[in-house]
Amino acid sequence: MGEQLLTEGREPGTAQPGTAQPGTAQEPVAAFQIHEFGGPPKEALVLLPEVGSADVLVKMTATVVSHHDLMLAAGVFPPQPSLPYVPGLEGAGHVVQAGADIDAGDFPPECVVRVYGGGLGATRPGTWSEYVVVPARSVTRVPEGLDPLLAAACGSVAATAWAAVFQVGGLQAGERLGVTGATGAVGSLALQLGAENGARSRVGWVRTAARSSRVPAGVEVLEAGDAPTEPVDLLVDTVGGPLFESHLEAVRPGGRAVLVGYTAGERVCILLPDLLVHDVTLQPLNMMRRRVPKEVEASLLAGFAEGRLQVAIERFDRGGMFAAIERLRAGEASGRLVLEW
Ligand SMILES: NC(=O)c1ccc[n+]([C@@H]2O[C@H](COP(=O)([O-])OP(=O)(O)OC[C@H]3O[C@@H](n4cnc5c(N)ncnc54)[C@H](OP(=O)(O)O)[C@@H]3O)[C@@H](O)[C@H]2O)c1
Repeated sequence: MGEQLLTEGREPGTAQPGTAQPGTAQEPVAAFQIHEFGGPPKEALVLLPEVGSADVLVKMTATVVSHHDLMLAAGVFPPQPSLPYVPGLEGAGHVVQAGADIDAGDFPPECVVRVYGGGLGATRPGTWSEYVVVPARSVTRVPEGLDPLLAAACGSVAATAWAAVFQVGGLQAGERLGVTGATGAVGSLALQLGAENGARSRVGWVRTAARSSRVPAGVEVLEAGDAPTEPVDLLVDTVGGPLFESHLEAVRPGGRAVLVGYTAGERVCILLPDLLVHDVTLQPLNMMRRRVPKEVEASLLAGFAEGRLQVAIERFDRGGMFAAIERLRAGEASGRLVLEW
């Protein structure tokens, strides 16, 4: 496609005085676009919104391809984007230009940032694009030394895990933490964060023992549905489905369960007399309705930069978009899928 058109006569990503800004009519940018819900993305040259006074123009290095992106692209998850649209809820890259109202020191040109939120990939063009225009509040500086691919991949899952374990689940030092989907991004990070913040012991349920090696060290590993050696104080459930009832039985009377996801099934069945007798509090988590504090976000990113926190990544080049989507759809992905621009 028209990459030569985009980069001819200058280094990509450098806004030079007197030259067209990437994303304008004079210089549209390469992106993937959804033209019909449920249809495949198509490569296209697109125009970006103007860089407003509180916006940042970012040249993408890495963009995430997630289940959430696919649900929006299928038109089955709110908010429904206006077609055609550029998907991509998160990613990382470097700053090309910051709007007039932004403090020059906040986002100097070329600094590495991650982008997430502010309607990206839903109500405004997302990160499946060479460039994005993002409200500054949805841009976060990335610490020195953090691989931009990891920066792209880690943010929303780490924030979700943190919110599940602490903000909603209220894990206290000395408590026992149980997590289903322990091989997944959110599950694994919930277990890692629990250990960093004083969980006395941890249990992780896996779909199959063959993937146990992907569970963080020091965790009691159980196959989905199995009973732990002792009850947990807090359950973080990322899988839902028919096994939810048995996972809930692992919570001590008076304990809590945070409901995060439903990779194993959308419907759950629980026996109300058991729930009432055990007096377990069920707490849903909806990250669309909450943001973690900026200082927590920064500390989570620092955790990845220092190697204390880890998340598995599968890397694809730009031509690998369709392969990445197929792996996600087939349930074969073993980590977050990140596409390099
Ligand atoms: N509530 C929110 O706001 C929020 C925010 C972010 C994410 N989520 C949701 O949280 C869930 C987990 O996200 P993630 O990023 O961690 O996904 P992920 O990395 O794809 O992990 C999915 C996990 O589910 C397990 N799993 C899949 N099918 C299963 C089955 N039939 N039975 C038992 N386990 C099964 C996987 O096991 P294998 O490793 O064996 O495949 C893996 O451990 C997703 O449903 C996601 O949509 C919710």
